Amino acid sequence: MAIPHLAKFPTIDVDKDEENLISNELKELIRCCPKEKGWRTSFLYKFQGYWCQTEEIQAIISFQKHFRAKSSDVIIASIPKSGTTWTKALTFAILNRKKFPISNENHPLLASNPHDLVPFLEYKLYANNQNPNLSNIPEPRIFGTHVPFGWLQESIKGSDCRVVYVCRNPFDTFISSWHYCSKIRSESHPPLPLEEAFNMYCKGVIGFGPFWEHMLGYWKESLERPNNVLFMKYEDMKEDPISHLKRLANFLGVPFSTEEEEAGLIEQIMKLCSFESLKDLEVNKSGKSIKNFDNKHLFRKGEIGDWVNYLSPSMVEQLSRVMEENFGDSGLKFKVFSSAS
Ligand code: A3P
Repeated sequence: MAIPHLAKFPTIDVDKDEENLISNELKELIRCCPKEKGWRTSFLYKFQGYWCQTEEIQAIISFQKHFRAKSSDVIIASIPKSGTTWTKALTFAILNRKKFPISNENHPLLASNPHDLVPFLEYKLYANNQNPNLSNIPEPRIFGTHVPFGWLQESIKGSDCRVVYVCRNPFDTFISSWHYCSKIRSESHPPLPLEEAFNMYCKGVIGFGPFWEHMLGYWKESLERPNNVLFMKYEDMKEDPISHLKRLANFLGVPFSTEEEEAGLIEQIMKLCSFESLKDLEVNKSGKSIKNFDNKHLFRKGEIGDWVNYLSPSMVEQLSRVMEENFGDSGLKFKVFSSAS
């Protein structure tokens, strides 16, 4: 099903001088940044405190320069492999439930991947130096991002728009990232052995890492501005989806009515957006939504605690220590086993 307002984002041509300025600026920036081997690209650069690929830095500069938030905007933020796809699907379904009834067999989530319905600012909209015209998208506009809180544009941070951050326990996030990077890496990059990836992860070297800085940035903001930043945990969502769907709908300003609850709407949304339903859709088995990567890699196991199948006792000890040292007394804690396991 074609979704008119999301089918194509018109692009304003970037002024040539400006483009040159950005690329020179970027070259200069990268020259001065610490660099490390990447997980699936040659290098990651430490740009303003976080590890990124060159093309991400380029897109972030463009986003920071051009994006203008509206107070009704909703931003889905995460560090990769935390449950972004799921959270985008849930948010889209909840916010658009009047326009697109959940039981409708033409619901957009049955024909489009959640990343097409909720585009990434840095991988889609502002990628390749684009400056898209986003002013005509019907409100509330929903966007996704992996950038750390501090990098969000002032027009987002200083406005009433809502940010939903989804966070997953670092053990599972690591395993999910390692699998995903192994699948989407180009032929020219040999697979990264698990042990090497693990040591990089513990040093903070992963896209948009250190993971602890990323998580704590949004965590602290959610404590300070709970009406504008919602901190959701993948494990809580898995274990008690009904409560967390209600929490999400309340935060988004569209609580479920008693009639909706009695009609089983929350369960319908849960089912529509479940791992099993999304994974089996044709669009998610064969399409490509983020850059040139197959959608099928976005749906692997969708479980809590798969890390036990990969990490040795000494690795568990090492990562636990990293978490203890960095999360300290912030109050941010994780459940790493499923209650079913
Ligand atoms: P696993 O690799 O552990 O299976 P992201 O969406 O941020 O890229 O995160 C991907 C992780 O979320 C993957 O975890 C994937 O299987 C899981 N996932 C994708 N869709 C999901 C859904 N609808 N419900 C629960 N988990 C989902």
